[in-house]
Amino acid sequence: MKALVYHGPKDVRIDDRSKPKIEHQEDVILKVTNTALCGSDLHLYHGNVVGMKPGQTLGHEFMGIIEEAGDRVEEVKEGDRVVVPFNINCGRCWYCRHQLWSQCERSNPNTELGASFGYGQMMGGYDGGQAEYVRVPFANTIPLRIPDNVSEEQALFLSDILPTGYFGADIANVQPGDDVAVFGAGPVGYFAVMSSLLRGAARVFVVDHWPARLDKAAKLGAEPINFDREDPVQRIKQETKNRGAICIDAVGYEAVGHHKHEKSSNPAYMPQDSLQVINWMVDSARKLSTVSIPGVYMTDFVNFPFGNFFNRGLQIKMGQCPVKQYNEQLLHLIEVGRIDPTQLISHRMKLEEAPKAYDKFDRKGENGEVHKIVFTP
Ligand SMILES: NC(=O)c1ccc[n+]([C@@H]2O[C@H](COP(=O)([O-])OP(=O)(O)OC[C@H]3O[C@@H](n4cnc5c(N)ncnc54)[C@H](O)[C@@H]3O)[C@@H](O)[C@H]2O)c1
Ligand SMILES: [Zn+2]
Ligand SMILES: [Zn+2]
Repeated sequence: MKALVYHGPKDVRIDDRSKPKIEHQEDVILKVTNTALCGSDLHLYHGNVVGMKPGQTLGHEFMGIIEEAGDRVEEVKEGDRVVVPFNINCGRCWYCRHQLWSQCERSNPNTELGASFGYGQMMGGYDGGQAEYVRVPFANTIPLRIPDNVSEEQALFLSDILPTGYFGADIANVQPGDDVAVFGAGPVGYFAVMSSLLRGAARVFVVDHWPARLDKAAKLGAEPINFDREDPVQRIKQETKNRGAICIDAVGYEAVGHHKHEKSSNPAYMPQDSLQVINWMVDSARKLSTVSIPGVYMTDFVNFPFGNFFNRGLQIKMGQCPVKQYNEQLLHLIEVGRIDPTQLISHRMKLEEAPKAYDKFDRKGENGEVHKIVFTP
């Protein structure tokens, strides 16, 4: 079968791989119908993820049709159309029993972190779904069945970015009447904007520097702030009577920017990693609010502005999104037409074009017009 395989930084290729087989009685083999490229794949593509070795199939956003089910799979069956969360959870360990779906303690044989598809040894070493077929373990727990009236493209982003954007607004505790600032006009940022509005936010600012991405966020109801043209902290303060906003970081440690651009203390990482968004948020967050960080951080920083977080009484919530906590309710919002995830798709490509797509998504196009790329195998 065809699969998109990691060979090294900025080197991903379509290789011929053997089709996955049932390894445990609770596995299913999924025939992938749709799969997407994510900002999290770019951390791998840049060589910025520890423990990522050549040879692994990438992809943690996928859905498909169950082709084969292990003997102990009861919750889904051959022929079911399902979307698969990126977190791999066993359903039975202490964390899973307490519905803390992002930190299953049984699915990752390599580290204590919750496992994910296509994300290297650190996250369990599971092959991903940017392929024609993928093995999905713990199939009594993980896959979400999709009703006939919801299309593949409508359901696909339930694997990650839609729940992750909602999680960004949820852990920030966005309430009716709040002013919100979302940093990063990428797919996660778009869904954080939509989710904040869904929860009743009064105004949502979105900070980025790609004009086409800021335009897209504006179409979703946000007020764009281009950090190449103005200081986002000043603007957010000015628009909120100096009070500040509820802040959501949908960028992570590969942030670019203009000031206080501290590098991480870990020499293993590439130089573009930074605390830029953290430094903007600590200054523009409403005092005593919760700063939410769905954007990924994988390294420690020496100059983290701890004192400023203390002085302004801010809390921080962050981490891998527990997709299962949200995906069923979000599916219902899609089903009844309250959310249309397909408006984020800017490019549809064949899986064979994935190496080209990684480069394209990494550069964001001429103007930021590459929003989300979806592959069909
Ligand atoms: N917590 C989770 O479970 C989870 C799940 C999915 C994605 N993520 C993470 O969310 C982040 C965003 O993902 P995405 O798919 O939207 O990525 P993306 O690369 O498409 O978008 C990131 C955007 O951030 C912008 N940006 C860079 N520096 C900035 C700055 N200083 N201020 C404001 N914007 C800035 C970029 O221009 C880009 O438009 C990534 O770090 C990704 O790994 C986390
Ligand atoms: Zn993702
Ligand atoms: Zn578990």
